[in-house]
Amino acid sequence: GTTLGASAAERGRYFGTAIAGSRLSDSQYSTIANREFNMITAENEMKPDATEPNQGQFSFGSGDQIVNWAISNGKRVRGHTLAWYSQQPGWMQRMEGSSLRQAMLNHVTKVVTNYRGKIYAWDVANEAFADGSSGARRDSNLQRTGNDWIEAAFRAARSADPDAKLCYNDYNTDNWSHAKTQAVYRMVQDFKSRGVPIDCVGFQAHFNSGNPVPSNYHTTLQNFADLGVDVQITELDIEGSGSSQADQYRGIVQACQAVSRCTGITVWGVRDSDSWRASGTPLLFNGNGQKKAAYDAVLAQLNTG
Ligand code: G3I
Repeated sequence: GTTLGASAAERGRYFGTAIAGSRLSDSQYSTIANREFNMITAENEMKPDATEPNQGQFSFGSGDQIVNWAISNGKRVRGHTLAWYSQQPGWMQRMEGSSLRQAMLNHVTKVVTNYRGKIYAWDVANEAFADGSSGARRDSNLQRTGNDWIEAAFRAARSADPDAKLCYNDYNTDNWSHAKTQAVYRMVQDFKSRGVPIDCVGFQAHFNSGNPVPSNYHTTLQNFADLGVDVQITELDIEGSGSSQADQYRGIVQACQAVSRCTGITVWGVRDSDSWRASGTPLLFNGNGQKKAAYDAVLAQLNTG
């Protein structure tokens, strides 16, 4: 293939990007996005603060813009995200206990129902585990409603759209030996053993010099896949430049290719200038929309094997 999406598709995978709706009117941006990628994630527009700004009043216009752009251009969509400690609307931030639990489940039901039939996979719960060596859940108002909030969200999502794959999504879960990775693994193992409806695990994969691509990445992906879930790289970016960055991107593609249940890779933005990172050059296209060495490495690797 000559594009990332087509090359991935030749081997049964996808290659996606996050899209910011406000940038779709930039023709350089939308031209690259349309040409190269076949899976789309809304960078912010389907999060709780965007979709339910006031309790019970849903706002799908910004999300619909991205979903409609994707579908009309023949692309699939990952839904991001339903239940998260961050980017909650103000009213939800101020809630606790059973009223929050009920509001969260209503949010899941209404948003998934709105997009029913249009979403390949939902990030049902995002970033629910703590960093560091504890292996504990992250403290949040959602966690304080009870340890079963994640499985409750998954069950509500399954009821609202039985055909969407349901994912747990987190960061710093790439290195198999990290406590956070092990903790998420045990949760997925527990969900599978008790019939909680989980289909996939998303690895955000935000890498930098302090958090490099682990050499055992394929082991992590394979171990999760062996629990009976798909695995996906959901928000990939790698700080750096030149051949060092290109080598790390190639390694990610290789790790995914080594695992049959690794169904695809999404990068978290199109050009370096579109990245959420305030500085740095973590993506596959430079600020002028030109392909970087990392792009060439990814394309070549997608066409290998
Ligand atoms: O749109 C408003 C604008 O109107 C306002 O003037 C401006 C002032 O702060 O804020 C703008 O909203 C910002 C929004 O991005 C759109 O640019 C928010 O402040 C800012 O917080 C938000 O950042 C997003 C971040 O999630 C929030 O947590 C990033 O774009 C987005 O890339 C990032 O994505 C997350 C994933 O969802 C989860 N994993 C980590 C990843 C990177 O942090």
